[in-house]
Amino acid sequence: MDRGNGWDDSAEAWIADMGEEGDFSRRHVLDAPMLARIRGRGFRNALDVGCGEGRFCRMLAAEGIAATGIDPTQKLIETARSRDDKGSYVQARAEALPLPDAGFDLVVSYLTLIDIDDIRAAIAEMVRVLRPGGSLLVANLNSFSTAGGWKGDPGSGYLIDNYLDERAEWVSWRGILIRNWHRPFHAYMQPLLEHGLRLVHFDEPAPQGGDPRQAARYRRAPYLHVMEWVRG
Ligand SMILES: C[S@@+](CC[C@H](N)C(=O)[O-])C[C@H]1O[C@@H](n2cnc3c(N)ncnc32)[C@H](O)[C@@H]1O
Repeated sequence: MDRGNGWDDSAEAWIADMGEEGDFSRRHVLDAPMLARIRGRGFRNALDVGCGEGRFCRMLAAEGIAATGIDPTQKLIETARSRDDKGSYVQARAEALPLPDAGFDLVVSYLTLIDIDDIRAAIAEMVRVLRPGGSLLVANLNSFSTAGGWKGDPGSGYLIDNYLDERAEWVSWRGILIRNWHRPFHAYMQPLLEHGLRLVHFDEPAPQGGDPRQAARYRRAPYLHVMEWVRG
């Protein structure tokens, strides 16, 4: 049976797991630094690539930014539409955006680079739809994290292995079963640099609030980063 990348079968469990506020990574680690890069910058419109059920598009709209979300997973796009009748949601893949050149002040990839099969094509498309001077804002799982995992009990440390080998792997939690990519960090950085983008911000945000035991895990292992690139 071809499960594709698992997102069609996992969409309902994903929607339930995210709730309205998002999971720990979003609520306590990424949302605040992502919004800090956006607020007060005068972005008029934004494209959220791999918008899922639209939570970050709704957050962009709350900041007064006209948001368009794209995602290939039908159930997720339908849910995004049902939760935001003013938003614009398109069922599409990052590798072939059905959108005009240079149409967006801001392009966002919020924990989606690891889900995208053809990362080079997707980055080329994200750059194409960005206006000159516009920003590409990325939150992604660290490559150290996608190459590893807790060794037994979290007390015993974090094991990273086969770091340089790019591979797709099935991962499962709370009823979700999806295929994610491990790529070494250069597999993301090199195509971004080759497009002439300029890195203007890089951070590995620390957790803020939330369950202290969960927060401790985010401090011990290299989980997440945020980058902002500007198109010249
Ligand atoms: C981890 S979820 C993140 C969703 C949302 N950005 C969020 O933060 O809640 C990854 C998303 O990437 C989408 N996705 C998978 N393959 C994709 C592709 N080729 N192009 C764009 N999005 C893709 C999935 O459907 C899913 O909604």
